[in-house]
Amino acid sequence: MQKNAPVGVLDSGVGGLSVLKCLRAALPQEDFIYVGDTARTPYGPRSEAEVRRFVGEIIDYLAGRGVKLVVIACNTLTVLGVETLKGSHAFEIVGMSKGVQLVLSASKKKKIGVFATEFTINSGAHKAAILEADATAEVYPQACPKFVPLIEGEQFGSGAVKEAVAEYAVPLKADGIDTLILSCTHYPFIQKEIEREFGGEVTVIDPADATAQEAKAALAAQGLLRSEGAGCLEVCFTADVERGARIAGRVLPQDKCRFKEVKL
Ligand code: DGL
Repeated sequence: MQKNAPVGVLDSGVGGLSVLKCLRAALPQEDFIYVGDTARTPYGPRSEAEVRRFVGEIIDYLAGRGVKLVVIACNTLTVLGVETLKGSHAFEIVGMSKGVQLVLSASKKKKIGVFATEFTINSGAHKAAILEADATAEVYPQACPKFVPLIEGEQFGSGAVKEAVAEYAVPLKADGIDTLILSCTHYPFIQKEIEREFGGEVTVIDPADATAQEAKAALAAQGLLRSEGAGCLEVCFTADVERGARIAGRVLPQDKCRFKEVKL
């Protein structure tokens, strides 16, 4: 494995860009190739077989580009089991952090909400991980199927986003949560709206930086960290590159990214 090989990052669409932002901050010397499957997003409502086929295609594409590590910047894919996504590839795969320590240290009442896709919520993975670390915690999962299409559709700050946030907040407010984890990488794009809806009493956690630190540790453990140079960002989408580039501009310096359409 070459130290100067790029790091692959993938998501069903634009969501993983919120993780790429943190990866770039944690690993400024690395080159990144991001693939967002905007032609087939959202993955959240799809079957496991379909989602596995799609992620396999993206990982094969990244393997063909000679990556040294892949970051699955998608919780829906991560809950499938990172090792099972690896196939026969030699590089390591890092999935999204479940943010267990982050939520447990932020929450005084140990009443924790989880916002995620239907697929992630149905897996029960986040609830199980939090309860395994602290059996006294109360975990309230909430699937938010309206969010990804609104974010992919650039509906930031719209009435539709506010209404959807309010709708999904109702049960968690009734449960009295004091901490909420955003376990879908799209949701940080509407984090302000979510924080506004819950008010100052609820701490909203995005596990993207924890994920970036795990990726850094994985590279360091293999002696694959680059120690010099300024990293490049190649941002690929399977459709709608212009829309993807506009959304990327919210979290990354657009002039530093090379945008591209890829066929898987
Ligand atoms: N961004 C993704 C996640 O973290 C998936 C969104 C979707 O395609 O449904 O779960």
